[in-house]
Amino acid sequence: MSSPRLILGVESSCDETAAAVVADGREVRSSVVASQIELHARYGGVVPEIASRAHIEAIDTVIERALAQAGARPDDLAAVAVTDEPGLIGSLLVGLMAAKALAWAWSKPLIGVNHVYAHAYSPALDAEPIDYPAVALVCSGGHTALYRCDSPTEIQLLGSTIDDAAGEAFDKVASLLELGYPGGPAIDRAAREGDPAAVDFPRTLLKGQSLDFSFSGLKTAVLYHVRGVPGGRRPGGDPPQRGPLTPAEVADVAASFQAAVVDVLRIKLRRAVRQSGARTIVIGGGVSANSALRAAARTLAEKLGCELRLPELAYCVDNAAMIAGLADHHLRAGRTDGLDLAAHPTVRR
Ligand code: KG4
Ligand code: ZN
Repeated sequence: MSSPRLILGVESSCDETAAAVVADGREVRSSVVASQIELHARYGGVVPEIASRAHIEAIDTVIERALAQAGARPDDLAAVAVTDEPGLIGSLLVGLMAAKALAWAWSKPLIGVNHVYAHAYSPALDAEPIDYPAVALVCSGGHTALYRCDSPTEIQLLGSTIDDAAGEAFDKVASLLELGYPGGPAIDRAAREGDPAAVDFPRTLLKGQSLDFSFSGLKTAVLYHVRGVPGGRRPGGDPPQRGPLTPAEVADVAASFQAAVVDVLRIKLRRAVRQSGARTIVIGGGVSANSALRAAARTLAEKLGCELRLPELAYCVDNAAMIAGLADHHLRAGRTDGLDLAAHPTVRR
């Protein structure tokens, strides 16, 4: 048997500094993630300048730890992979410069990897290969989009959010309910004690069979429910809430908001499966850790007779294992990059 192909992955597109070593695209030998959550929590969101500086401080140590935990030496590596798009430009540049320096010093190929496509690949980590064609829903703090995937690297956009990302809506509603940052896990927890039918928040589905998403109306509906409609009563509704919500009311709002997001994601996923004819459903990105979404996706996949591929919880949020894993498929196809590889804030390829 030939020796495994090891790839070092580096990820710094948002607020996690991460490095990982993955063998043959799926076997995770190490996955180190240095979170910056505490640095950004007091601002209620990621502050790009703070993120870039924190990446610079952490990146060397994170890469060293990933190599050490995998028991890998630079000589053992087949390539160095790095997120080159999309993300915060200052953050992306830190990982990209580190990866370029190492690829050059160690004479290894450099492979730029799209962060969103890597989320769509994450269910293959420490698991069986994904059966293609697949419909992939990537929902995170920065992205909410549906793709048709014919292989790990052949990906076509079907629809995406026209305003907020699903994770962003979770973070904003959590902040409104004073549940802390990041909001997704906090809402998930609070919702367990609440009634998802307590408040009938809107499900924005857009026209016809659209596969695009919109979450800003839902966010405003939660705001009005909690703080009251500016200038008066809600048409046909209860008088606006004034005092702080009781813990039971917070749980009900969290559960009802979460149910509205999950309904929209489920309905769009069903449309995409019907339109594309794919028999595999892939879900990735931070919001794929949501317990209600995971449960709804299981029921949907069963109804449609599709195979459902969810990432392990450790690979839902940002990590570098998904970058190294997807890079293996680029390497196999002979796609590597030069040291002139640039970072891009938006999706280019
Ligand atoms: O994939 P990720 O780490 O970063 C981006 O690429 O954006 O996703 C982070 C997002 C945050 O908005 C966070 O609130 C959300 O994922 N998230 C969740 C859960 N865990 C993380 N949203 C809902 N339920 C969760 N359990
Ligand atoms: Zn992400």
